Amino acid sequence: MSKRKGTFIAFEGGDGSGKDTVIAELRRQYADRDDLVFTREPGGTVIGEKVRELLLSKDTTGMSFKTELLLFLAARAQLLNEVIIPALQADKTVVANRFGLSTIAYQIYGRGREEHLPFLQSASAFVVGKWAPDVYILLDVPPTVGLARVASRAEETTRFDDERQAFHERVRNGYLKHVSNMNTQYVQIVDASEPLIQVQKKVNSIFAQHYQ
Ligand code: TYD
Repeated sequence: MSKRKGTFIAFEGGDGSGKDTVIAELRRQYADRDDLVFTREPGGTVIGEKVRELLLSKDTTGMSFKTELLLFLAARAQLLNEVIIPALQADKTVVANRFGLSTIAYQIYGRGREEHLPFLQSASAFVVGKWAPDVYILLDVPPTVGLARVASRAEETTRFDDERQAFHERVRNGYLKHVSNMNTQYVQIVDASEPLIQVQKKVNSIFAQHYQ
């Protein structure tokens, strides 16, 4: 496998944290650049979008914890293979809307299955290997604020949006707990409860440190 050259930046945060909005703005600002690749999870490939449908649909309420975890990893494996790895090898900058921290926050902490963190970490080593993000930008927001934003949107909610507030509290605390043990150079936390204009300003400046 050839060498990694590009930079990999992943955005993370709870539902309604504003990731989609700030990423759409970055896309607009850098629309003329052809060395920037945007992806989203789950999805981003034909196979991944099919897996996304299964994962987010409200018809799949009976999905087991293990099925859910493995499907997120399956979608990620395909995205790495088809999009992320080729882009990084071609010296492009990859911007991901969610990546591995989502699985830790939602499946391990949200679902209350901390005993399976070691399994997830070894499965992630298998799936992701050396292609992990160079930096995570975590948009942190209290679920009361995030869920109110989700409720005010026109689009349909997903199986995850519809989880109880306690689930979203565990997700937020899971993110914060996990990143508190990470080296600070790999993760930047942005207070996403501030007005969007402030959040965007901070995101722009962090982004510009990693992409010229
Ligand atoms: P989406 O509508 O894309 O939400 P958002 O705009 O907040 O990213 O739905 C993705 C959902 O999938 C979101 O609720 C988080 C969840 N998710 C996980 O539970 N585990 C994961 O590993 C990933 C990537 C996403």
